[in-house]
Amino acid sequence: MKVTVVGAGAVGATCADNIARKELVKELVLVDIKEGFAEGKALDMMQTAALLGFDTQIIGSTNDYSKTANSDVCVITSGIPRKPGMTREELIGTNAKIVEEVSKNLLKYSPNTIIVVISNPMDTMTYLTLKATGLPKNRVIGMGGILDSARFKCYLQQALNCSANDLHGVVVGGHGDTTMIPLTRLATLNGLPVANFLSEEQLQKIAADTMVGGATLTKLLGTSAWYAPGAAGAALVEAILRDERKVFPCCVSLEGEYGQNDICLGVPVVIGKNGWESIIDYKLTDAEQAAFNKSADAVRSMNEVLKTL
Ligand code: LAC
Repeated sequence: MKVTVVGAGAVGATCADNIARKELVKELVLVDIKEGFAEGKALDMMQTAALLGFDTQIIGSTNDYSKTANSDVCVITSGIPRKPGMTREELIGTNAKIVEEVSKNLLKYSPNTIIVVISNPMDTMTYLTLKATGLPKNRVIGMGGILDSARFKCYLQQALNCSANDLHGVVVGGHGDTTMIPLTRLATLNGLPVANFLSEEQLQKIAADTMVGGATLTKLLGTSAWYAPGAAGAALVEAILRDERKVFPCCVSLEGEYGQNDICLGVPVVIGKNGWESIIDYKLTDAEQAAFNKSADAVRSMNEVLKTL
């Protein structure tokens, strides 16, 4: 098994670090456009192997995609991150060209790969990757909902003073401050609805905090977050490589599911060795479906911007 991570910045490097620590693959390639940067990060990580006890070989490459040949999964984190006050959507002008070029380069050397997209604005970058590569829809997966759900569970955990591992919570819709939909109705603590323990007001605050989870961190850090995004990317790669059949909310191509067409948007999917294998119907309430449709409208107008670039 072989994985490539493109973009050796904070998210890409953290994702690679998690993949190596979990020993998911024998060979892990880290690519970056900046001369020597991926090689440096790869060597630094390799020097943790004797400390952490993993056997993965991490290879850095300055934009030489021949080194990525025959990757089973490729993760795209390339592009610029947002600065405080920016939305993910404002990155489209710069990141669309980068993601299109990267995805085509990857496909040239790994025609059978599954592509995981993390670059922002993620929903539109996933749509772009699907169109630019012409890959079967199951092999293009946007990673946003796993991260947003982890943030949702973090805020729930703090309010409930429980273990985050006893919680289930899912965020669907777009990966944007105003487009994501934390499904508070379906969140549970050991099988019991969290609404049994929290007031409506508390639940609304948790949902609101989740939606601006990334923006809060960007304000604190001066740039976009990386520990949770990197770990979420690695969790998705793990589910694919180990054929786990885990249900994760991921950004995938919809063909009528959840009432939407010709769009990539976050819905619960089964993840396995073929990429995303099927979409689970959560039977949204009218209010949730209305929020989902609104989210789709916003993402669709971002996708329209691609035509003007
Ligand atoms: C975030 C970026 C990775 O939400 O989209 O932190």
